[in-house]
Amino acid sequence: MTAQELRETYINFFVAHGHTQIASASLIPENDPTVLFTTAGMHPLVPYLLGETHPGGRRLVDCQKCLRTGDIDEVGDANHLTLFEMLGNWSLGDYFKQESITLSHRFLTEALGIPQERISVTVFAGDESAPRDDESAGIWQSLGYPAGRIYYYGKKDNWWGPAGTTGPCGPDTEIFFDTGKPACGAHCDPSCGCGKHVEIWNNVFMQYYKDADGSFTPLRQRNVDTGLGLERVLAIINGQSSTYDTAQFRPTIQKIAALTGTQYEESTQRAYRIIADHLRASTFILGDDKAVSPSNVDQGYILRRLIRRAYRYLSQMNAPAGAMAEIAAVILEQYGGVYPELARNSAFVLAQLNREEETFGRALEQGLRMANKYLDRAQGGRLDGEDAFRLYDTYGFPLEFTVELATERGMAVDTTGFELLYAAHQEKSRAGAAQKFKGGLADSSDATAKLHSATHLLNAALRRVLGDGVFQRGSNITPERLRFDFSFDRKMTPAEVAEVQRLVNESIAAGAEITCEEMTVEEAKAQGAIGIFTDKYGERVKVYTMGAFSKEICGGPHATNTAALGSFKIQKEEASSAGVRRIKATIAAE
Ligand code: ALA
Repeated sequence: MTAQELRETYINFFVAHGHTQIASASLIPENDPTVLFTTAGMHPLVPYLLGETHPGGRRLVDCQKCLRTGDIDEVGDANHLTLFEMLGNWSLGDYFKQESITLSHRFLTEALGIPQERISVTVFAGDESAPRDDESAGIWQSLGYPAGRIYYYGKKDNWWGPAGTTGPCGPDTEIFFDTGKPACGAHCDPSCGCGKHVEIWNNVFMQYYKDADGSFTPLRQRNVDTGLGLERVLAIINGQSSTYDTAQFRPTIQKIAALTGTQYEESTQRAYRIIADHLRASTFILGDDKAVSPSNVDQGYILRRLIRRAYRYLSQMNAPAGAMAEIAAVILEQYGGVYPELARNSAFVLAQLNREEETFGRALEQGLRMANKYLDRAQGGRLDGEDAFRLYDTYGFPLEFTVELATERGMAVDTTGFELLYAAHQEKSRAGAAQKFKGGLADSSDATAKLHSATHLLNAALRRVLGDGVFQRGSNITPERLRFDFSFDRKMTPAEVAEVQRLVNESIAAGAEITCEEMTVEEAKAQGAIGIFTDKYGERVKVYTMGAFSKEICGGPHATNTAALGSFKIQKEEASSAGVRRIKATIAAE
């Protein structure tokens, strides 16, 4: 089965069971500072899990591009990836455990034909936040899974979410495939991580909200959130022992071989996989409409680390200049049809990779010489934090890069020392990491809803003052302020800033009702709504209207009247990246 066949089989199966297909959201979350990337299909759905109505109804299905950096050190083994595609289905306060488990069972065994005897499942063992999930275990048993293949685990293994620090979460039941490898010992089970059992699907019963103080409160509705790893399932149904052996990676691996004149074999396997994974992830980040480019903060810094690590492995194999862009071109070709934004942004992707190669290529050789010098003089087998920081600060060596160099010589790095210096150095740390990861629409508070409404007014005002060429490129809201990125290629004049601020305050003073209507994307466009249009024909969206001033496609939530916003003040207008400006603004009660 090809990846496209798997995507279609999954979507069609759930559509046949009353689900509406929705498009993959951006890899860069909207309005949510609690995570840097979309790490799961549920992420763009947080407001709906909390009770907002979704225009697609209460049963949804999609294939979402996701990125997780937590497992980055594992990339290179058989199955770990940073970027992956997650097939997911949701019940927003509709069906619950019985139907969810039955649908998963039927999809795997009937639609994909996976032998039931190779499937094991895990359920939540219970603790002070939620009871033992005998209900799910009972459902699995009734479907023919013997008690011996149903495992009970605690929060560490069988509880999912929130994706950031606060938000919806709950106990889950996870589905594992037995690869047929010999057991690693008498106690070998799905939790042991030896590779015999591969997790393929997670069904989360999202019925709690985790607050900043760590407490769990029941949500208004009981949801189901599931995630099935496309690359892993593809390997399983095609009888391959690694996700890197699937057709998803084959063209990239062939390209690396051709460029470096090496072969994909045991001695090079790890490097090939790291290059393939990291460049696929980088291509998807750069290819997103949000125009993130390599930098030293936030998403841009993760991107930079992925590119630089791939570059180092490529240069060790004597790849020619421009190799990263050549590999990315293969990835763009492969995925451009499924994710049209990649095709749209291909020139940007290639240019940014070449630019980063030029910037870093110069520093790399000299940096490697310095790193070797520091490692030579390191005491007790450990490079101190200051040297690691110097390599970062002067030569742009990300920490894990230095750790890797040290490991290759059987040495370690004082990572705590590095982190302290790094935190002190980061301009971002002024506000404190804790502050930065607080709030967002996941908190659904009045303050964030009002700031979100202010963002719409700001978007409309910018287009009036600067013209229709202005498009939103990103938005990030904390309870204290809004941050709005938009396409515009020069600094705004003070008069323009003042006029935008005046227009926003004028529409607040007008006290317009904020209304929401559901319609198709085509209807929204016809009504002149702005916002992010998905590429899917006929998809239903919500359109928020604020008087005659603003009409925008958006998921909400919002204030109910512009008058609630108080007074709006632009605190800063600055460059964000090439061709993108950033405004930070606050609102205050009148
Ligand atoms: N959100 C769940 C996960 O990522 C499905 O595992």
